[in-house]
Amino acid sequence: MASQNRKGTVSLRQVSGSARSKKVRIDLGEEATFTRFPAPVKVGDASYFLVRGRDGYKLLSTVCPHQGGEVMDEGDNLFVCDGHGWQYHKTEGTCEGKPDFRMKAFLVTLNGNHLIALVPDE
Ligand code: FES
Repeated sequence: MASQNRKGTVSLRQVSGSARSKKVRIDLGEEATFTRFPAPVKVGDASYFLVRGRDGYKLLSTVCPHQGGEVMDEGDNLFVCDGHGWQYHKTEGTCEGKPDFRMKAFLVTLNGNHLIALVPDE
């Protein structure tokens, strides 16, 4: 079950998973409730952006792959990191001008009309 706070960030609860797998399946809610992308999503202490790219939905971690800064959506065409200002594409998480870097992506699938994410158990 998902709930939404004033900032539009969705908080979620775990629907399955185990300590052995180190990943958990999270029900993000009904697909129809996500009308704007990227959509901020919080799972435990971890923050993501739900995006819809060429190959479907995925969660992009807001932890910068450079040195762990926070990647933010400031409303421009690209995400931007607060660490050193690197910019990332909003659908695939690839780094502008640095092809060896990309935001960490996690699988999101459809189960019925619900979006289910597979994310680290943090
Ligand atoms: S930590 Fe993100 S650009 Fe350096």
